[in-house]
Amino acid sequence: MAILKIARMGHPVLREAAAPIQDPTAPEIQRLIADMAETLADSGGVGLAAPQVHVPLRLLLFHVPASRSGTGQAMRLRALINPVLTPLSDEKVTGWEGCLSVPGLRAAVPRFAKIRLTALNADGAAVDEVLEGFPARVLQHEADHLDGRLYPSRVEDFSAFGFNEELERHPVELL
Ligand code: NI
Repeated sequence: MAILKIARMGHPVLREAAAPIQDPTAPEIQRLIADMAETLADSGGVGLAAPQVHVPLRLLLFHVPASRSGTGQAMRLRALINPVLTPLSDEKVTGWEGCLSVPGLRAAVPRFAKIRLTALNADGAAVDEVLEGFPARVLQHEADHLDGRLYPSRVEDFSAFGFNEELERHPVELL
């Protein structure tokens, strides 16, 4: 396993649409998943998409600590391959997001409240489930990476966008 270098905003790999993965069980994909898991653990983040480690493929990893799930229940680390997200209503919720590719900053970003996820898991098995709340937010953020989008392009209210240190000193209340 290896800790991979994370691309930062401005690198072209973060602006391109990633390609579908043909065989999730291929050894190079399994190695990439293992390396991304180690990289994510090292970073302290909750999600990581393959383009963020300079690999333009439709693969993302995420987990949700109990303290941030909203339900008190943790979600274990999982890999999702070729994920497709479908909003299940028009309702959007605004919440804070940061990104390992945009270090030091955070913003309030509107995301769909409830989504359906279809994907393959690391074993190549089909995933089909409904997600809400923070897990749904993380997934929408990571899936955006696969389409070459970073969260700043989703910000609607730039009064809630800034450096972590400043926002900790001068908290912005979200409506
Ligand atoms: Ni990100």
